[in-house]
Amino acid sequence: MSSANVWVLLGLGIAGIILMSRRFKKAIKEDFGAFIERLQLLPPPQPAPPKAPHPLTGLSFAVGDIFDICGYVTGFGSSVWASTHEAATQTSPVVSALVEGGAVCVGKTVVDEMAYSISGENKHFDTPTNPLAPSRMPGGSSSGSAVAVAAGLVDFSLGTDTAGGVRIPGAFCGILGFRPSHGVVSGMGIVPVSPSLDAVGWFAKDPSILRRVGHVLLQVPYAESRRPRSVVIADDSFELVKTSADQITQVVVRSTEKLYGRQVIRHINLGEYLLSNVPSLKRFQNKNTGSGESKISSLKAFSEAMLFLQRNEFKNNHLEWIDSHKADVSPTILSDVYGTSDATDECLALCQSIRNEARNAFTALLKDDGILVIPTAPGPPPKLGSKEITCGDYRSRCFSLLAIAGMSGCCQVTVPIGSHEKCPLAVSFVARHGGDRFLLDTVHTMYASLQEQASTAEKCKPSTNAISQEENAEIAKEKGNIAYKEKQWPKAISFYSEAIKLSGKNATYYSNRAAAYLELGSFLQAEADCSTAIGLDKKNVKAYLRRGTAREMLGYYKESMEDFRYALVLEPTNRTANLAVNRLKKLFQ
Ligand SMILES: *[C@@H]1O[C@H](CO)[C@@H](O)[C@H](O)[C@H]1NC(C)=O
Ligand SMILES: *[C@@H]1O[C@H](CO)[C@@H](O)[C@H](O)[C@H]1NC(C)=O
Repeated sequence: MSSANVWVLLGLGIAGIILMSRRFKKAIKEDFGAFIERLQLLPPPQPAPPKAPHPLTGLSFAVGDIFDICGYVTGFGSSVWASTHEAATQTSPVVSALVEGGAVCVGKTVVDEMAYSISGENKHFDTPTNPLAPSRMPGGSSSGSAVAVAAGLVDFSLGTDTAGGVRIPGAFCGILGFRPSHGVVSGMGIVPVSPSLDAVGWFAKDPSILRRVGHVLLQVPYAESRRPRSVVIADDSFELVKTSADQITQVVVRSTEKLYGRQVIRHINLGEYLLSNVPSLKRFQNKNTGSGESKISSLKAFSEAMLFLQRNEFKNNHLEWIDSHKADVSPTILSDVYGTSDATDECLALCQSIRNEARNAFTALLKDDGILVIPTAPGPPPKLGSKEITCGDYRSRCFSLLAIAGMSGCCQVTVPIGSHEKCPLAVSFVARHGGDRFLLDTVHTMYASLQEQASTAEKCKPSTNAISQEENAEIAKEKGNIAYKEKQWPKAISFYSEAIKLSGKNATYYSNRAAAYLELGSFLQAEADCSTAIGLDKKNVKAYLRRGTAREMLGYYKESMEDFRYALVLEPTNRTANLAVNRLKKLFQ
């Protein structure tokens, strides 16, 4: 080999390493990708004693990028929206109220594109990472706000909830998420999605912080907290949950018995109750059932009515902007906006009556001191990139649950309740419209007991411990693959290492770790891992290719050539191997 060639190769190698380390620096997601922008809104000075200090003193918070902050552009989950709108000239009153209340606002967080999804996946700003389950969706639309709280970056955060935007990410990220009664918290200075459903909500890990924020935003006068006189379990809503329904209801039942006695617990079939107490729902259900089809369930009809209102009002607010920015709006939004027929006045009126009648029906059912118990979501957070949340059965079950408070305007809180197969589980409590304070007080009282029961339930459950080491190893590998795709090489390496620790005889785990080492420029480690992989699986083409690359970078050209040649024997048409062989051949000429 001529010395000129060696220099070229060395140069290339160094350039590669520099490039890789650059890529690596950029790739680490700061703060779990929760924030769009950091800023600081500081509270006014404390009043002089003996006056009480501000109620939220010492707390930090973040707000979804759908709330206006004076001097900043509100992005509404879309970089195109941000670039076509001016900076806000006023701060949303809810944000001001919290700052006046003594809390420090530290930033704006990612929301789903046009706040029109519950998945939390966002192409414009990248998907925030769910801190409790990194391979799963964080939930949306208020994804960044939920992640910021779950990761402990702030004490609480604000989001908006049209059809689940606070409740779903709260459940997916394993934290508390509160959706107040419709209309009780001002929506001024917030980009509207569907005003008859929109609600400002907030997240916290600590139930007392959730309640303190409530005191400031709800402006309710002080009152003694009431004990619930009925805890009503909506049995049919739990049939929409695929796994862990029993685990969830058991935890709630045990805590309720302990705190308030068995006699407060009741069971109800909510679908039947709605059908007989919301006359318009039956009409809607009949209208939406084609001849010969089996009738959709009443909970599903309830959710169809909600989605109908949501789409229609969203169109009214945003069709004009979408019309002129079609190329930059995601297909799911476009298909909802253009793929559905326009609303007739008759259907709109019917949906409005469903809303009003439902609100009365829940007031009659729950009165001032009743809690309705439903699941927040039909199952664990779906895997990142999976489609189930935008179509199909999961989505339909999800909205059937979310419509209960969404349509009736009742308040709802989602409470974390342990985990199932390493994914957070949640339950929801609903109180009548206007029962916000009672609901926050009840969660505050029950929280510790619920957590205690949840951890007991998990320990007693043999099935979770029965997951084999191999399965856990596979889970770790999957997480590693996701980190790898996100170019988080060190994180990928640590997940692959975990997989290897759990199941040390799998060539794939070593070979995948080698790929991450290659990206980091750790060629010796990469080579060693490939050799182990090849030892375990003599036909592992990838391991040969990766070892060839590592050896080439280390300057072992002969050995490198052998690896690539062997890869070609196993897979004669592989272009990568072919190119490498030709490249190395030239070196030897
Ligand atoms: C080894 O890993 C592959 C790929 O992840 C997986 O399909 C296979 O089941 C694993 N084998 C064992 C024995 O764990
Ligand atoms: C070469 O083989 C590897 C391993 O099977 C594969 O991942 C890669 O896509 C192949 N490359 C080409 C260009 O065929």
